[in-house]
This record gives sequence, C-alpha cells and structure tokens, in this order.
Amino acid sequence: MAAGPKDENISRKAAPLSDEEVSRLRKDFPVLGLESAGSPLVYLDSATTSQKPQAVIEALAEFYRSQNANVHRGVHRLSQAATAAYEGARKRVAAFLGAGTPDEIVFTRGTTEAINLVAQTYGRRHVGPGDEIVVSAMEHHSNIVPWQLLCEENGAALRVVPINDDGELMFEAFEALLNERTRLVSITHVSNALGTVNPVKRVIERAHAAGVPVLLDGAQSAPHRAVNVAELDCDFFACSGHKMFGPTGIGVLYGKREHLETMPPYQAGGEMVLSVEFERSTYQAPPHRFEAGTPAIAGAIGLGAAVDYLSAVGMGRIAAYERGLLEYGTDLLLEADVRLIGTAKEKAGILSFHMDCAHPHDIAQILDDEGVCIRAGHHCAQPALARFGLSATARASIAFYNTKEDLDALGAGLEKVKRVFG
Ligand code: ALA
Repeated sequence: MAAGPKDENISRKAAPLSDEEVSRLRKDFPVLGLESAGSPLVYLDSATTSQKPQAVIEALAEFYRSQNANVHRGVHRLSQAATAAYEGARKRVAAFLGAGTPDEIVFTRGTTEAINLVAQTYGRRHVGPGDEIVVSAMEHHSNIVPWQLLCEENGAALRVVPINDDGELMFEAFEALLNERTRLVSITHVSNALGTVNPVKRVIERAHAAGVPVLLDGAQSAPHRAVNVAELDCDFFACSGHKMFGPTGIGVLYGKREHLETMPPYQAGGEMVLSVEFERSTYQAPPHRFEAGTPAIAGAIGLGAAVDYLSAVGMGRIAAYERGLLEYGTDLLLEADVRLIGTAKEKAGILSFHMDCAHPHDIAQILDDEGVCIRAGHHCAQPALARFGLSATARASIAFYNTKEDLDALGAGLEKVKRVFG
C-alpha cells in the first residue's frame, strides 16, 4: 500500500493553506464557533486535545444510528456492516500513515497504551538483565514510565539522550549511547513540551546501523505533518486519535509485521484467541492478537473519518500553514518579552513559555477570562522542563484551524497578565 504522504520534504514544498481556506475549514468545527467568558473562543490547546470536525461527529452518530453491532462476532448483516466499517477504518489509517498493510495497524486507546503494549510484549521478550533502552530528555511521561517499569522488572537500564539549550537532541551523545546492550530506542517525533521536531530519519538510520529497532512517539507529529512509516523505516509508531481531530479513546500502534508476528499478546480475552482449552490457548495473528475484548468500534470509525478529512485538506499544506503561524506566534511572544522554552531550529506549532511576573496557572487563568484556552503545567514532561530549571510553563499550541487573529488574542491576553502581575 504505502499510499500515505511521501516524506517531510514534500510537505516543505506544499503551498500553505490560504486564510480564506482556513476560514472555510473553521466552519467545520462547531466548538470554534462558541463563545467563552463573553468573548469568541480562541482555542490554542490542540496539543492537549484537538477539536473535531462535523465529519467526525457525524461518522460517530451515523455508526450508532445505523450500524451499531459488535464486530467480528456476528453472522447477522448489522454485525457484518459494523465489522466492514471498523476494518475499513484500519485500512484508512494504514494508508494515512503509509503502512505496508492494514495488518500492521493495531487499534489501542491512545499513544500511552500503544507504548505500554510494546513495552509489555516486545520489551518483555527482548529486554533482559543488563540490557539498555534509550529515550531522550524531552520525552512525555508515557514514553518514560513504561520503560522504567520494564527495566525494574527485567533488570535493564534506561539511558537518556541529553538535549541542548534550544531543546534539540544532542545527536553525538545519542550515537555514543548505542552499544551492544541497546535493545530499543524510543523517542518522540515532536516534543509536546518544547515543540522540537527530532531528526527521526537520522536517528532510525543510525540505530538500525547498530542493529537496534526504533519506536517513534508520534502523538504530536501525526496531526500536523506528513508521516510515512514505511519511508521512515521506524519499527513502531504510536499516535492518538483525539489529537488527530478524531475521538478520544482510540489510538494507533503501527508495528512492522516482522515484529508484531513474534510478539506475545498484551491483554487477554475474547477475540484475540483462535482456541481456548483449560490446558492452553492459541492466539490470533496480528493485529487482532492485540485487540482483546470489544474494541472502540465507533472511535476507530471516527478516526477513519478524521484521517480522511486530514488527507482531503492535505498534510503538506497543513504543515506549511502551521509553520507560518509558528513564526508569527514566535515573533509575537518575543515582542511580549516572555522566555520561550524550546527554540529548536526544526520546530512544530508549540509555544511553551515562562514569565517572571506570573505563574503559568495564573497566565492561563487570565487568558481564560479573555476566552483564550492554553495549557499550563508540566505537560506530562517533567524531565524536559527540569532541563530548563522549570517545573511548569504556559503552552499555546496551534492547529491548522488557528489564525493570526487567535495569536493576536494571545498577545493581548499577555499584556493583561503584565498589567495584573507586572
Ligand atoms: N500529552 C498531552 C499534552 O501534551 C495531553 O498536553
């Protein structure tokens, strides 16, 4: 198949969405038309969760209206229709991510569950006493703690690639960490706390040269740029439906077929088995081996609608448009004299910042009073913020439905923060 967006260079060449197109697309998102605290709602929190287009809301409603039945279990027509829709969603997601076959797509609850799945199956099988797993200093907790648990259980060690003052991966330090005990590299594609876009193609090539597989945490990349897992040649890729303009409770683990086939089950129950006897059970082939119990059927169908929507808009055009917004927002924050946390040369639409005069929660509160939604806190990436001597930042994060006017509202809100606290 490998029909997904081809590579990151193509997205660089794509024309950005025009302001007129964005204004039209915004109408697809009901929440963006709301008011908050008496002002038009300005949503700058898409890294936490994205808003949903009408096409996704309608796909969920339509499933419950006319197709609702369990999947893979029914002879009746309704169940067959539900199964076709669910497996159709898997095909759409496979095409969107450039996977070789839908069988390489496992539906999970989200990125967190996808990483835990790999840690508890591939990890338990391949990581033993004295072995090492490499992560980076900018990881989300969900790409740290699953590995810590595995290391504690199996006597392995976590190795951490440091980051520089701009929040960029220190590549030579990464290379130096690879050795004959390294069993897996698990790093983020795009940092949720700093916005750094990691040089994942180079990381994968270098790790593979050392015989080490690579898992990419794609939670913050899949919604914002073209991803093609076959071209990247990553071994695993994890992402979350709710950050991709799809429903909550659904996520994706892409795994190379050669890995998935050798991995034992994660959770056990109905539908992941071929046969069950009290003496022993046998298991389905991937991906069903990893989908015990009734899956998030409607969620998967909603995610299928979301990736169709994104493909129709064009990931290259989305990335090009968001790059322009990021530049605009960066200039605006520098003029506002805040300290930007995360100034990598390759950056996605995440603006994390610190103000000496106000705590991040106070900043978020004042902005909320103006109808502007941002996130404040450690963003589930405490070690990344500790690297900058901080325990929390304020974070504005953008998506293709945001505009310069949204960022102007952020700027105006920060002036109010200075008046109140300065
Ligand atoms: N991981 C999500 C964030 O960065 C929730 O906010």
